[in-house]
Amino acid sequence: MEKLGRTLVPDYLKDLKVYQAGKPIDEVAREKGLTKISKLASNENPLGPSPYAIKEMTGGLWELHRYPDMHAYQLKKSLCELYNLKPGNIILGNGSEGIMAYIARAFLQPGDEVLTCDNTFIGFYILARSVGANLKKVPLTSDYRFDVEALAESITEKTKAIYIANPNNPTGTYITKKEFDYLMKYVPDHVIVLLDEAYFEFAQHCDDYPDSMDYRYDNVITLRTFSKAYGLSGIRVGYGFAHDDLISNLSKVKLPFEPNLIGQLGARGALKDTPHLNRTLKNNVKRYNETFEFLEKHNFKPIKSITNFITYKTGSIEASEWMYENLLNEGVIIRPLKANEMPDYVRVSLGNKEEMQHYFEAMEKILPKYNELFGRA
Ligand SMILES: Cc1ncc(COP(=O)(O)O)c(C=O)c1O
Repeated sequence: MEKLGRTLVPDYLKDLKVYQAGKPIDEVAREKGLTKISKLASNENPLGPSPYAIKEMTGGLWELHRYPDMHAYQLKKSLCELYNLKPGNIILGNGSEGIMAYIARAFLQPGDEVLTCDNTFIGFYILARSVGANLKKVPLTSDYRFDVEALAESITEKTKAIYIANPNNPTGTYITKKEFDYLMKYVPDHVIVLLDEAYFEFAQHCDDYPDSMDYRYDNVITLRTFSKAYGLSGIRVGYGFAHDDLISNLSKVKLPFEPNLIGQLGARGALKDTPHLNRTLKNNVKRYNETFEFLEKHNFKPIKSITNFITYKTGSIEASEWMYENLLNEGVIIRPLKANEMPDYVRVSLGNKEEMQHYFEAMEKILPKYNELFGRA
């Protein structure tokens, strides 16, 4: 007899794989018996949360017997001030992935076609498949970017949604304003475009990066998060901006008390702490330059990124796995990209100075053997 869970789920869920997150620090410490661990696997903020956010969250602990404000009035107010919006254009959720789940639940049905690229954020693939949508993926361009021409050509009558991660994870690349405008010319009004800007804060300084706040397309939903530059992955707060008609329909499927009370307070605190955000961006630029140079020096051909991570080629799945395992033995956690269909690449998140030093030293230790095993000069 088939197991009960398997018989209960619809066919489209049967072969769906569970999302694999970056290995937690505790787990590596336990398994390897190590005390010094540098987690460079989940694109988190290495400077930690803003002290101001911590103060706000700590203050909220005495209110934990109360439900949070289901309209998150204060947090929405802060976002409205920052981006010059109305509360009716904002949706909040348990991370930006939580909002993606609402989008899937509200707008997608089994058999709907969802268009995106290969080698992008796996969390989205899983959510689209979890509601029975058919994912139609086109390859990235040869320089690892979303291919807007191929996307435009692939739109059919069945297309219901288009997902673009800009910048993209795991490649760190972006589509330009011109490319976004080009694509939008081909997108019918009834197709929703999910513009995932999880790494927006790192990218906003690039002149040709399309800040979606400058656009007012009624069928675009912009998703952003407190998990990356704001250093608050642990509290799970994300936000989306869109036309009020889309937002009010999304609100119908939203769980009423997300984000939770501590999440609302932390996110609001983080928005006020511009110095912390600036320190984060400054650290990132320094670590990016050092890491890129290090990888080039060791002949790895890193992909140019405007985010807080760098992906580089190892050349084979065996080489990626070897590098991942051997860095793990040294207490450095990176991310092999097999699940992203880039098995011959790995991704390293940019940590703080000490963490990157740990990574450089560990790499230098393992590279002689790596070069010998994988035939590199
Ligand atoms: C492109 C992209 N979108 C969304 C997310 C999820 O972010 P959140 O923590 O807000 O759910 C991630 C996390 O790694 C990501 O890389």
